[in-house]
Amino acid sequence: MKENETNKFVTRRKFLTAGAGTAGLILVGSLAGCSANAPATTDPANTQSDAPSLPWTYKKLDVELVRKRGYESYFEGGCMYGAAKALIATLQETAGGPWKNLPFDAYRYGLGGVYGWGSLCGALNGSLAVINLGVKNHADLGNELMGWYTLFPFPSDKHESYSKFKNQVTTVAMSPLCHVSVTTWAKEAKAKINSDEKKDRCGKLTGDTAARAAELMNLALTGKFTPTFKIPEEYESCMGCHVGKDSKFDSVQGKMDCLSCHDTHY
Ligand code: HEC
Ligand code: HEC
Repeated sequence: MKENETNKFVTRRKFLTAGAGTAGLILVGSLAGCSANAPATTDPANTQSDAPSLPWTYKKLDVELVRKRGYESYFEGGCMYGAAKALIATLQETAGGPWKNLPFDAYRYGLGGVYGWGSLCGALNGSLAVINLGVKNHADLGNELMGWYTLFPFPSDKHESYSKFKNQVTTVAMSPLCHVSVTTWAKEAKAKINSDEKKDRCGKLTGDTAARAAELMNLALTGKFTPTFKIPEEYESCMGCHVGKDSKFDSVQGKMDCLSCHDTHY
């Protein structure tokens, strides 16, 4: 029994070390660590640049327009580009100002979880970049978007009128990692990663994630945003001992589902 458990653990370790999980863990972990704890004030150094200091003024976003634009733009430059362009192009039209100086091409690096590494989902990455530019309490909205993404059954059915594939299988990733999100879906849908079906699914997911970011930004605009995401019960117990400065050991960086990579040990 014990030997089996050890083997299982070693196999999982090997898989994780060789796969994309580790890279994603480090990236997401460091993002959470920096942004969630950082004070949402303006860096004085930024005020010396030609760009106005953050947050930039924005206008209420048309959520369904952003959703459709996210889907369409995905096919031009991938998931991060698609999400960022959907939000920024819309704000260029409605709010103007500094939004007009942002080149969409700056967001091409995030596709496939950053150049195909399968780490942070690019649709999240692109949406978070815009939230950071426009919203003072960006860490609260960003955390909410991350949590929402991990629990949402992608893709939504709100693209049926223009998408190439209708009625696609939906899956919940329990993770913000591209690797987990895409692979879980592809396995369930019996689709190849480079298939048109998968691209359509990721195009829809890009639109859905940018649309959720737009909803959250709209709520923030009217002071109606309240965080709702809670760490799911399945791994909430792990946090009390391992995660956070008030936890027993403060030994782990991260808010991702522990049980997708580790077994319970107590
Ligand atoms: C009551 C406190 C406590 C809780 C709750 C707890 N841990 Fe731990 N965990 C420890 C201690 C103590 C160690 C050993 C010392 C160390 O490595 O930090 C440990 C070690 C680990 C290790 C290192 C490898 C191993 O098995 O020894 C992993 C992985 C781990 N915990 C994951 C989890 C996960 C996942 C959960 C939730 C399902 C969890 N822990 C909940 C206290 C806890
Ligand atoms: C994406 C996969 C992944 C997720 C999610 C994840 N871990 Fe890990 N964790 C790893 C990897 C890989 C390592 C480093 C290799 C190892 O020790 O297994 C590690 C290391 C650890 C260690 C140190 C292990 C040791 O041997 O000392 C602890 C403790 C731990 N994780 C706890 C957690 C807790 C608690 C969570 C949830 C908040 C969590 N992990 C979420 C993959 C993950």
